[in-house]
Amino acid sequence: MEPDPVATLYEDHREIEEIFPRLEGENWEEALPLLESDLDLHLRREEEVLFPLLERHIGREGGPVGVMLHEHGLLREKFSQVKDSLSRGHRAEAGYVVGEILSLLREHVAKEDHILFPLACQVLEVGEKEEAENRLGKVVELDVRPLLARGEEPFFTIMEATRNLRPEDILLVINHFEPVPLYGVMAQRGFRHRTERGPEGEFRVFFRRSEKSDSSPVGKESASASMVVELDNRGLEPPQPMVRILDALDRLPPGGRVVAINDRRPLFLYPELEERGYRHETEELPDGSFRITVWKGAPR
Ligand SMILES: [Fe+2]
Ligand SMILES: [Fe+2]
Repeated sequence: MEPDPVATLYEDHREIEEIFPRLEGENWEEALPLLESDLDLHLRREEEVLFPLLERHIGREGGPVGVMLHEHGLLREKFSQVKDSLSRGHRAEAGYVVGEILSLLREHVAKEDHILFPLACQVLEVGEKEEAENRLGKVVELDVRPLLARGEEPFFTIMEATRNLRPEDILLVINHFEPVPLYGVMAQRGFRHRTERGPEGEFRVFFRRSEKSDSSPVGKESASASMVVELDNRGLEPPQPMVRILDALDRLPPGGRVVAINDRRPLFLYPELEERGYRHETEELPDGSFRITVWKGAPR
């Protein structure tokens, strides 16, 4: 398949649009820093990667690239106006400029979505598209519906895809139903999500790394204090017990152990553990449940 140079830029646009309603509400000031940081990153991605490639083919001045750059400048100017008004205590004036930012941004995004991005797909050469995709990331699509139709558990396929993602890539999971439990599992791995419905009513969930959680969701003290992570998985439906164990292992400090109590012997878990280099021991308890201990390193 030919690389898509603008796939992640489209998704940037959708994420930015999700902030708009909050900027139109009473508490717009709270949402403003989020818009500013998301937008700043997005504008730089366009200016540093996409626009220079496009300029080789269509030039800058007097064309769409020149117009887009001019609008980027206007947007940045308006953000400083807002800050200036706020610092002088003129909230209403600042709110007015925020309204201007929103309408300018709506038009700007529409022009890129409908004119500039399709143009990039047309005029860039394959090598340039590859370069753009390498630097901007790609959207890795994973439709789990065929797996479910065959009675397979998609969780491992999703985790496998997650492990293979580069930092700037986006994982798109497509499913019949909304995969709500996955949101938590992915959030613990530092991914945020955006969900939309597709033309057939299917759920399309975009997962991407959130810079904010890069500082590790597991704090230093909790990591060192939790050398033994205990999990009570009784009463949980598969694959939840397995998901919880693998998730705890992913966040386990070196030398740590996971001890889980399950209703059933976790037969599907063992090959996963072995593949990842873990050792494990299972012991049947008097009440018929199982205690599973998992660790890395030498046998106990
Ligand atoms: Fe732009
Ligand atoms: Fe854009």
